[in-house]
Amino acid sequence: MNTVTSTLETYRPALHYACKDTWLNDPNGLVFHDGVYHLYYQNNPYGNVHSNMSWGHATSTDLVSWEEQPVAILCDETEQIFSGSIVVDHHNTSGFGESGAAPLVAVYTSAFQPGSAHQGTQAQSLAWSRDGGYTWTKYAGNPVLTRNSPEFRDPKVFRYEGPAGSYWVMAAVEAHDYAVLLYRSDDLRNWEYLSTFGPANGTGGIWECPDLFELPLPDASGEIGDAGTTRWVLTVNMNPGGPNGGSAGQYFVGHFDGVTFRSESTVTEGMQDDARLAEYGWLDWGRDYYAAVSFSNVPNGRRLMVGWMNNWQYANQIPTSPWRSPMSLVREVSLAMVDGRPRLAQHPVREITATAAPDRSYSGLVLDGTHRFEGGTAVQLIEATFAPGTAPEFGLVVRGAGDGSEGTRISIRPDGNLLTVDRTASGDIGFHESFASVSSALLKPATGRYSLRIFVDHCSVEVFTDDGLVTVTELIFPNPASTCVSLFSAGGTATAESLKLTNLA
Ligand code: FRU
Repeated sequence: MNTVTSTLETYRPALHYACKDTWLNDPNGLVFHDGVYHLYYQNNPYGNVHSNMSWGHATSTDLVSWEEQPVAILCDETEQIFSGSIVVDHHNTSGFGESGAAPLVAVYTSAFQPGSAHQGTQAQSLAWSRDGGYTWTKYAGNPVLTRNSPEFRDPKVFRYEGPAGSYWVMAAVEAHDYAVLLYRSDDLRNWEYLSTFGPANGTGGIWECPDLFELPLPDASGEIGDAGTTRWVLTVNMNPGGPNGGSAGQYFVGHFDGVTFRSESTVTEGMQDDARLAEYGWLDWGRDYYAAVSFSNVPNGRRLMVGWMNNWQYANQIPTSPWRSPMSLVREVSLAMVDGRPRLAQHPVREITATAAPDRSYSGLVLDGTHRFEGGTAVQLIEATFAPGTAPEFGLVVRGAGDGSEGTRISIRPDGNLLTVDRTASGDIGFHESFASVSSALLKPATGRYSLRIFVDHCSVEVFTDDGLVTVTELIFPNPASTCVSLFSAGGTATAESLKLTNLA
């Protein structure tokens, strides 16, 4: 019998994955296999705060509705199972497959406990699955890669096929050195050091959870150019030190020759320059998109990423129960050319809106003050395009109370190209001193139009703008009855050229 009461479930998301009654943090081992997307994650199987790290597991066929599965890899007295990745070992290079069948191989960090001979170190270990990812066996020869370091973790493994050959590559961090270390292997068991990237750009906190992948490069007109023209993207998460405080992710675009990643987008070599933070490549400007990594083995060249929708500043205190922490929406990432340079563009996967049609559409709304739209649900897609008028500031309030006393304020200041998300009146903000906050993001120089796609759920707001070049992800804990959307201009006029409101649940 389900004994969960409605009060406890106030904030359970409709569009995002959260555990039934336990804690989660980083997405791990994201892999598509046999028609199923597998989402593993840092999980405390015994409670709803960060502890007893194991790999939880959920599956989906549409990237939107997820089914929780039994815990995949459980901690024990010798090790906690920290973050890592999964590959489909198509050619059974590891030998873990039976009768030539392709096993799934998980590469995870063993955070060795006092009960272990390796106590105090973090090293990379393997587990294999012969049943498509549902049950896992740890490799008896673990760990397979150690530096005798206490902070060497979060291996992301992929198959490199290029001029240098065909082999497995692992990216892992030496967290306190702001370094991503690359290794190669032919069999996933034996690893050889290749190179190190970092420190560079953001170093306001330790580096965690890296990823490295190749994407097609569009030409200046935005078209995917000559077949084979690509760039490599290295992502790395950082905690704290994000552009708006706490946990955040950054990316670099460049070249990978099978040995070394060379960034073309580095603004600061070495330790960060505080004055140039806004120029760095941020995966998200909000405060709740961390530990993002991409799926492996997804067909049709799609690169899909998920982040943990939380921030280590207050992660263990957010007011949800019995579960704690959701994942972000799944994003499809690509490269876009901006002023002759490749940048990462991110869009929520199309599966989220596949069957949705706008419930209400408006055009040419001239704003001079506040215009309130009631009657939507708590879970909505809000799409708005604004043209500035005389107002120095305009935008929207989402998850608003009918009397205007509560809401998350998303505003644009065209002078300065600034987008802000203000959650100081978003609902329950009292559980941690650093939660009430205003996050800012720098937009592209004005084109005369500002188009926003905003996904709101029971405990989150995700803003996608500038054609996906800028995203802002924030947790909020509003009253369930606060479902108003308002448009506003402050101190003058602005025009909402179009507004579409789509109830998604
Ligand atoms: C990132 C992180 C990882 C580590 C895991 C432990 O949030 O600190 O570096 O593997 O969480 O749960």
